[in-house]
Amino acid sequence: MTATKGLEGIVAAQSSISSIIDGVLTYRGINIDELAENATYEEVAYLLWNGKLPTQAELDQLKSELSDNAAIPAEIIDLLKRTPKDANSMAMLRTTVSALALYDAEANEMNREANYRKAIRLQAKLTTIVAAFARIREGKEPIAPKAGATVAENFLYMLTGEQPDKIAIEALDKALVLHADHELNASTFAARVTVATLSDIYSGVTSAIGALKGPLHGGANEAVMAMLEEIGSASNVESYINEKLNNKEKIMGFGHRVYKNGDPRAKHLQKMSEELGKLTGNMEWYNMSIKIEELVTGQKGLKPNVDFYSASVYTALQIPRDLFTPIFAISRVSGWTAHILEQFEDNRLIRPRAEYTGPVNAKFIPINDR
Ligand code: ACO
Repeated sequence: MTATKGLEGIVAAQSSISSIIDGVLTYRGINIDELAENATYEEVAYLLWNGKLPTQAELDQLKSELSDNAAIPAEIIDLLKRTPKDANSMAMLRTTVSALALYDAEANEMNREANYRKAIRLQAKLTTIVAAFARIREGKEPIAPKAGATVAENFLYMLTGEQPDKIAIEALDKALVLHADHELNASTFAARVTVATLSDIYSGVTSAIGALKGPLHGGANEAVMAMLEEIGSASNVESYINEKLNNKEKIMGFGHRVYKNGDPRAKHLQKMSEELGKLTGNMEWYNMSIKIEELVTGQKGLKPNVDFYSASVYTALQIPRDLFTPIFAISRVSGWTAHILEQFEDNRLIRPRAEYTGPVNAKFIPINDR
């Protein structure tokens, strides 16, 4: 038995949800470029969960179900109020989503209809939890979700208490579309492994949030912004990047396990970053990002991934840096739950083997002789 480090190239599941073939990403067979230009996030969530685009009536129903389920239990608001104000926002989300299961009477119902209802509840409530935490830690009261608002609109509204402008809503909506699913990425695999034991959907999503938190996965978008802030201005980019590369340190937001010729989502985020920079009159983050890309691609051949330009996009939307990865979760929860539903349809325990590298024929030594 020989291990493949990081399971690179291992095909560990069959899935009809999203594909990456020859560098092209599709959701249910539809190219991500088409979805980014034409679809709303709610249409994409419906597509991932149901395998087809919704009719107007189906979309309206989903939107009202999301809206009806956006409020969070009072016990969860209490939990957020007792969460340390300086808690890591992904640790908060992991804990709070796990706690949410305690207040869902259907948490352990395992039929498809109940799991579909829970997928909608998780989508709706994750958005509210992140916005509520952001306000509570600033000493403000959380804002109740706005009836009839989309996920993107509601998030921005609940974060600030003000009606967000159309451009901000559209930009966040597109970012959510781009992050919604991505084949067997680490967090989705974690979700599938968890529920393949026939554990519940909340456990699966809690595992996924834990996996997304790391800087090699979803945590990279926050790390990109930390890097941009550390660099400070475009004139410092060259020396900073050269030093990192000379020290063999990783540049966050670059490289990908699957894409070697570029992440198809990155160009959309780059365009948004440029447009929002112009609109807000602050091109500094975009200009720095472009310069970093030139250097890293030029010297290492590494291309930006989805996390690189999303950092400057969210900053232009005035979203605090440590909410970037929770926003990733607000989007990816549709993909996670679609994969969980798919796993349950044809389940088998996921239990691989390990290549043993420890001692052999070791003897037990009594404690007094050690
Ligand atoms: N900066 C500098 N060098 C890099 C980078 C980077 N961002 N990414 C890969 N490399 C180098 C590695 O040092 C390694 O070089 P070596 O062969 O000389 O040792 C080589 O490229 C291969 O890299 P691995 O880390 O082995 O590639 P792997 O497929 O295991 O990792 C990963 C992919 C985790 C995305 C990696 O590229 C990385 O760490 N990137 C930075 C973090 C990041 O942006 N993560 C977000 C990914 S997208 C997402 O999850 C949403």
